[in-house]
Amino acid sequence: CFEHSFLWRRRKLRIGAILLKELIRYMNRNDLCWCGSGRKYKKCHQDYDEHLREMKFDFTKGQIRPMKKLINNPKDIEAVRAAGVVNDGALDLMDEMVQPGVDTLTLDNAVAKFLESKGAVSADLGFEGYPRYTCISVNDVVCHGIPSKDTILKEGDIVNVDITTKYKGYYADASRMYIVGGHAAENAERLVRVTRECMKLGIEAAKPWHFLGDIGAACGKHAHDNGYSVVTDLGGHGVGKEFHSEPFIPHTGTPGTGMLLVPGMIITVEPMINEGTHRVTTDKKDGWTVRTKDKKLSAQWENTILIPETGNEILSS
Ligand code: MF3
Ligand code: CO
Ligand code: CO
Repeated sequence: CFEHSFLWRRRKLRIGAILLKELIRYMNRNDLCWCGSGRKYKKCHQDYDEHLREMKFDFTKGQIRPMKKLINNPKDIEAVRAAGVVNDGALDLMDEMVQPGVDTLTLDNAVAKFLESKGAVSADLGFEGYPRYTCISVNDVVCHGIPSKDTILKEGDIVNVDITTKYKGYYADASRMYIVGGHAAENAERLVRVTRECMKLGIEAAKPWHFLGDIGAACGKHAHDNGYSVVTDLGGHGVGKEFHSEPFIPHTGTPGTGMLLVPGMIITVEPMINEGTHRVTTDKKDGWTVRTKDKKLSAQWENTILIPETGNEILSS
């Protein structure tokens, strides 16, 4: 997940430059397409551009068209798919290793070894100074839990393992929740289940020519209907050629608002759902660990998805 304000600051800085670039890019039918597919413009994104040009965007709803750099070509998509396969393999390893008595540093090291064996690396390590290979977040930790020898999992804990693989220059990002030992208190098990449903509903809403707000609305409604709150300080993000890119993906919101979703976009859907308040705090000492303000439970599931011509496709889960 990513901080809302950070992307927004960066966006404001870039917006002028991007607008200019998009305006002056004039394409001839027989030019090579701007998406880098190697195909002629007329056989590739010309119809897409014309469709976008005809679309009316309602700025009062925050509707904006996605910048061209957020559109992945078939080669990019194939590369993220491959990163997703490695990432899923690392998460599958966690399915076996998350057990009562294991410490989270052991899990982190196992992921590091697995990624290395596949010729991949962790995107987390060194990201803005992050010290480990994965994020492992237990109970009231919302996200960015730093693996440690001192964090020993016990029966009934709920834990999120979040892994981002960088493979041949491309990123795939996903996380799964575990109920340690297979059983937890009823409220904890319900939170884990409902949070997964929120992610699934958000993914279902992420169709081409729909809007970003549709994802948040679907996630958020299910959370709120179940008496939970949705973390808004952090959210999903574009992913693929970069670890975190625009757009910021909120997990609550209003249908028909925000950026248009179009074929070729790759994003994460990663709702963080809380039992109590949606408010979170970041650990002052380590600068990373995000916890619920009221110390109640939080859960998160994350998939990387592609927006294709119809529906969507899960690239890492
Ligand atoms: N994987 C997280 C996400 O879903 C980001 C972790 S960044 C780290 O976006 F530095 F904390 F590892
Ligand atoms: Co993410
Ligand atoms: Co992640």
